[in-house]
Amino acid sequence: MSNLETLIANFNSQISVIENLSQLEEIRINFLGKKGLVTELFTQLKNIPVEEKKAFGAAINQVRDEITQKIESQKEAFENEILNQRLASEKIDLTLPIRKNESGSIHPINKVMEEIEDIFSDLGFEFAKGPEIEDDFHNFTALNMPANHPARQMQDTFYLQNSDLLLRTHTSNTQIRKMLNSQPPLRVAALGRVFRRDSDQTHTPMFHQFEGFVVDKNITMAHLKWTLENFLEKFFEVKNIELRFRPSFFPFTEPSAEVDINYSLENGRLKIGKGDKFMEILGCGMIHPNVLQNCNIDAKNFQGFAFGIGIERLAMLKYGITDLRMLFENDVRFLRHYAF
Ligand code: PHE
Repeated sequence: MSNLETLIANFNSQISVIENLSQLEEIRINFLGKKGLVTELFTQLKNIPVEEKKAFGAAINQVRDEITQKIESQKEAFENEILNQRLASEKIDLTLPIRKNESGSIHPINKVMEEIEDIFSDLGFEFAKGPEIEDDFHNFTALNMPANHPARQMQDTFYLQNSDLLLRTHTSNTQIRKMLNSQPPLRVAALGRVFRRDSDQTHTPMFHQFEGFVVDKNITMAHLKWTLENFLEKFFEVKNIELRFRPSFFPFTEPSAEVDINYSLENGRLKIGKGDKFMEILGCGMIHPNVLQNCNIDAKNFQGFAFGIGIERLAMLKYGITDLRMLFENDVRFLRHYAF
């Protein structure tokens, strides 16, 4: 074996047994340092016959490159190992353990909306959605409330700045949108948020409404009455609820009525559908012929009824919630108590 081969074999056997960077550094100094074995070979060059010098020089260079490269890659391997150990030892668990007894629940407002969907789906109603940001036409004009009509003031409207748009004051905009793009017979229900500039114990600037309407031939108030009776009995889970229709006014219905239902108080507890007291629950009426015409429906051949109810009110009555604002404060104690 030549000198160089011995040197390489020697290097290989040393590097194969070391375990860390400082041992590697020792080897590096041994072979490539100022007085290292490879460096020493270069000093021997001067004793070599001229004709062999070139080949010997090239051979030493090759040995030096091979050793350098092996040291580099071993160094990288050790450094990776160190990094991986650090990563493993410094790992932080950022996840939180679950709280076993905590789980989400259905908010009373959503619960009421689900119940309404069940009841009216059974009756063959289709559910439609209207936009919460609405224009004057769909919220007012088409509903028989032309500009400057005094009835517009019954609804404390939020108008958008520098825009002709407003926040819908009722779900009746959905009536208009639905009638404009479909033809009777129609059986439609709409649920959603509405907005009015009003805030006290019984009013919040945002609340939810449920609107139902039917347009077909030969529709009368009897259909309206049956539908409401059927709905209220199912919703409040009572038999034979009493409905009282009081004449009222909405620009978009003629005739219009407010509907009261009977109730009693038993030991401070509200019983809907029992007793001889009455409370107001919703507004309704026969869709005004002008509204049908505004939606290109022939008012001579078609009639319709419509009604609107506040979801919050339904939730409070059914579940015994006494303060409207509790529905929106998201107090965990309240949410837990009324969890579904
Ligand atoms: N849109 C009316 C309101 O918000 C409720 C209503 C709907 C009345 C449909 C009659 C018919 O006050």
